[in-house]
Amino acid sequence: MPWPRTVIRCEPEAPARPSAPNVVASGASERIQRLAARLPPLGLTLRCSVAEPATAVPALDDSTAYTLARKDDVIDIKADAEWGALAALATMAQLGPAVATVREVRDAPRYPWRGLMIDTVRHFITLATLKRTVDAMWFYKLNVLHLHLTDDQAFRFRSSRQPELASDVGYTPEELAELVAYAADRGVRVVPELDMPGHTASWLAKVPLWRFGDEPATPSRSFGVYRSCIDPANPAVLGAVDALLEELAALFPDAHLHLGGDEAVALDRETQATFMARTAAKAMAEGRRPMAWDECLHPRLPRQTVVQAWRGLGARDAALAAGFDCVVSAPYYLDLFYPADAHAVVPDVSADAPWPGDNDRLRHVRAGIDATERAFRQQQPTLPSADAPGRLLGGEACLWTELVADDLLDARVWSRMPVIAEQLWHGGSAPALYTRMAATRRALAKLNIVPEDDMCFRRYPTELRPLLEMLEPVKWYRRLLGEQGAAEREGGLGQTKAERPYDISTPLTRPVDRLPPESLASRRAEADLAAGRPMARWTAAWRRQREALRHHADLLPELGAAADALAQLADVIDGAECDAAGLAGPFGEYLLPIALAIDRDRAPQAATS
Ligand code: ACM
Repeated sequence: MPWPRTVIRCEPEAPARPSAPNVVASGASERIQRLAARLPPLGLTLRCSVAEPATAVPALDDSTAYTLARKDDVIDIKADAEWGALAALATMAQLGPAVATVREVRDAPRYPWRGLMIDTVRHFITLATLKRTVDAMWFYKLNVLHLHLTDDQAFRFRSSRQPELASDVGYTPEELAELVAYAADRGVRVVPELDMPGHTASWLAKVPLWRFGDEPATPSRSFGVYRSCIDPANPAVLGAVDALLEELAALFPDAHLHLGGDEAVALDRETQATFMARTAAKAMAEGRRPMAWDECLHPRLPRQTVVQAWRGLGARDAALAAGFDCVVSAPYYLDLFYPADAHAVVPDVSADAPWPGDNDRLRHVRAGIDATERAFRQQQPTLPSADAPGRLLGGEACLWTELVADDLLDARVWSRMPVIAEQLWHGGSAPALYTRMAATRRALAKLNIVPEDDMCFRRYPTELRPLLEMLEPVKWYRRLLGEQGAAEREGGLGQTKAERPYDISTPLTRPVDRLPPESLASRRAEADLAAGRPMARWTAAWRRQREALRHHADLLPELGAAADALAQLADVIDGAECDAAGLAGPFGEYLLPIALAIDRDRAPQAATS
């Protein structure tokens, strides 16, 4: 996963020397040798032939194509560029001993931009976690790490030019350079983002004189969209922005510099456009291609800018029609707790196509999702159409970290990201999505890169696992907004007045924080139900959960209602009359998605009885 373009399979042929070390034939670069050393020992001889000379860092249009041919225990890898050979090694890392069932793989990506954005601000993400994330990106053939370095709550770039802006916790230029080199060794580009002119409360907390208008310049502990904004007419602000862009351009070799540009709610459209056009011109003067969130769309924005479409596929289509190259993020927001298959969408999916996530699992947040989409359509910019449309470069998943601490990142990303990686590389999903995702997660865990998601259950008493494994967090922004805030948002209010339940110091140590976003046990129970297999092994345990919770008083208040519902669902399976769908929740921040499957399973019977 991602499924390759072409695979020629064969009857399994036992390796001549199972578990013997692999040998890399001479001539392979150090980069290739280092990654080859991480493959499981299979007694193979690897011969790599790379046509083009190696470069220090990957670039957008570098080839990642490769072929991998096996004859007995010799593997021949051929690639245009070193990045293709690294991708071939990822294929081998996934195959493990199953390489014996493969004669040949011929492979190349559908899109050159296969990204993951990580918000390092709302919760600090350590360098170790970023490196581990890059390892897993290599494994799934992702190739762009976009670092969201600044926002309202902190300024994570410990700039040498503007040291006064740095928050206490951040990355030094040396650490960022180390990450860039580490990523390049895995075929991954690193794109830094300086988010401006909105999302800059952290700048103003350090330099209040830079503020626009009389919006407060207080440090932000809470989340949400702030009116705080740097003053785009202040020469001192523009001087600092220029210095920061010069420093970032010197530090990050990638051709792209992300300038943010989202949600600058205090500025009118023209003022924001003037600032973005000026900043884009500065990035270009530094030899970089500007990139920005889709609010940047404006007739005066330089056409060289890459537009990152996050407010729906309409933003993508508007950008492309106006001649801007585009990276699609709207269907790939990992912070919304959607199940993996809700992200199974190609970047060029029609804006009118049904969304695979749109089913009864999202009923509790449907009104909120609709309200957001309406809000974007009302603000759509008018742009002159271009002679030639822009180029759709690919997609980028986004992990905003309001509810993600460093230790939770693995589970939030890799529970769904493999599905997105497949959309971006293969250009769609191959069959058996969940089976292959589970198999590759086991392989990833075996390589000691990222543990499997079910490790989280080990933190809780085993007797509660039957309940915990059936639960999911509520979807969309419902955790972040709280119930009242979500209700106000559903009513179409842009800014909600309700108190938010979380801020930057809320400990993220409850079950709802640690649970995988999607319950895979629920999928297994649903499959048993659909196949007519006996359900007693599920229902017997479900009936014991309320009693088991009594021994864990700390968890009872938040899990009690869900435990009661789970026991009732056991009764429904055994024939009790009850509205099963009504037992799906939400119970506070928890859902019981198996209730919806049980409801669907009973529907035909209800129709015939
Ligand atoms: C964004 O989600 N504010 C780009």
